[in-house]
Amino acid sequence: MSLKLISNASLATLQDDQSYGLIPSAAIAIEGGKIAWLGPMSSIPDQFLSDSIESVDCNNRLLTPGLIDCHTHIVYAGDRATEFEKRLQGVGYEEIARSGGGINSTMTQTRNASWEILFDQANSRLAGLMNEGVTTLEIKSGYGLDRGSEIKMLEVAEQLERDNPIRIQKTFLGAHTLPPEYVEQKDAYIDHVCNVMLPAAFEAGLVDAVDGFCDGIAFSVEQMERVFDQAQSLGLPIKLHAEQLSYLGGAIMAARRGALSVDHLEHLHPDDVPLLAENNTVAVLLPGAFYTLNETLKPPVQALREHGVPIAIATDLNPGSSPLNSLLLAMNMACTLFSLTPLEALAGTTINAAKALGLDKDIGSLEVGKAADMVIWDTDNPAVLAYQIGANPCLSTMVAGEWRKNIMPSPDPS
Ligand code: NIG
Ligand code: FE
Repeated sequence: MSLKLISNASLATLQDDQSYGLIPSAAIAIEGGKIAWLGPMSSIPDQFLSDSIESVDCNNRLLTPGLIDCHTHIVYAGDRATEFEKRLQGVGYEEIARSGGGINSTMTQTRNASWEILFDQANSRLAGLMNEGVTTLEIKSGYGLDRGSEIKMLEVAEQLERDNPIRIQKTFLGAHTLPPEYVEQKDAYIDHVCNVMLPAAFEAGLVDAVDGFCDGIAFSVEQMERVFDQAQSLGLPIKLHAEQLSYLGGAIMAARRGALSVDHLEHLHPDDVPLLAENNTVAVLLPGAFYTLNETLKPPVQALREHGVPIAIATDLNPGSSPLNSLLLAMNMACTLFSLTPLEALAGTTINAAKALGLDKDIGSLEVGKAADMVIWDTDNPAVLAYQIGANPCLSTMVAGEWRKNIMPSPDPS
């Protein structure tokens, strides 16, 4: 079993979301793709000190868990730059959606795109995220809106994982919006999602979780409950786009059912927050969508904090509401727009993002027994990650104990 040692690191272990869990002047040993030991340089066990062990000296740079983008829609074709121009002239996001644009316009382009085009475009978005230290990400379907096209999207997501050193979680989002074949028949479409599309994607082994868009321009709480009944009868975890453009009460419905996460939440009532806490449901905040849609109502961050709801941050990378191909920038936006602290932003893309995916037993923090997914940064201060805008201090990334990128300068000889 191959052993590796990373020495002279400033570790931010993120073992919980209350502190960075800093261990200065530390080392970390990796065996079989997992963290075998970590602690101060002065107490490295003998077995990790042999000359034959591959070792890297960090020269006191920061080492964190690999970043996790827990909410993305990176598989899609085309763009919505023309809608961007319209919105700048005062046409609203909801108005565009109601007149057949929005998600439906991406659906048409995605249905018409070949598998290869979809793959190539998603692969280059993925490269941008990986270059900034993302080692796990979630990818949703939801731009196919028929059985074959939803499966095509999920197969592309699966192939992205096969072809890249990254972990990918696939989420079925058939209930994203109403496709044109079902105009004025939302209930009939939901029946089709429950009885045909979701079972087919599930049987193909392409679904890790089930999501939906609960909103006035999408589906009601009752309609989402029917999708969740089916998801839960298949044993699948659930999550929900909730309270983004208006308040419908979807977040508390999802939390009562034990949802992994509820996402967006600009319109969440502070009174609803205790239910999220009771059910260990993560609040996933998406500042890229808030920024792009020029929203003014912010999610109730202080209430989430006071009740101890884990907060995660994600890009929501999609062609409409959040064309944001940078998780570091999402962290910066979460601080500036939602008043998160840089610690909350980093916990939101590591330990709490792992919780949002139900993967916190294996990833999200530096702990013995967890996967050796980690990043070495060109700084010794973890606040730098959320502070900089447009910089990329990621020097090296390891996934499951293997270096994916390593551009660390040699240690200073002096
Ligand atoms: O997370 N809110 C719903 N879905 C996406 C937007 C999709 C789109 O506009 O294409 C979101 O913001
Ligand atoms: Fe989304």
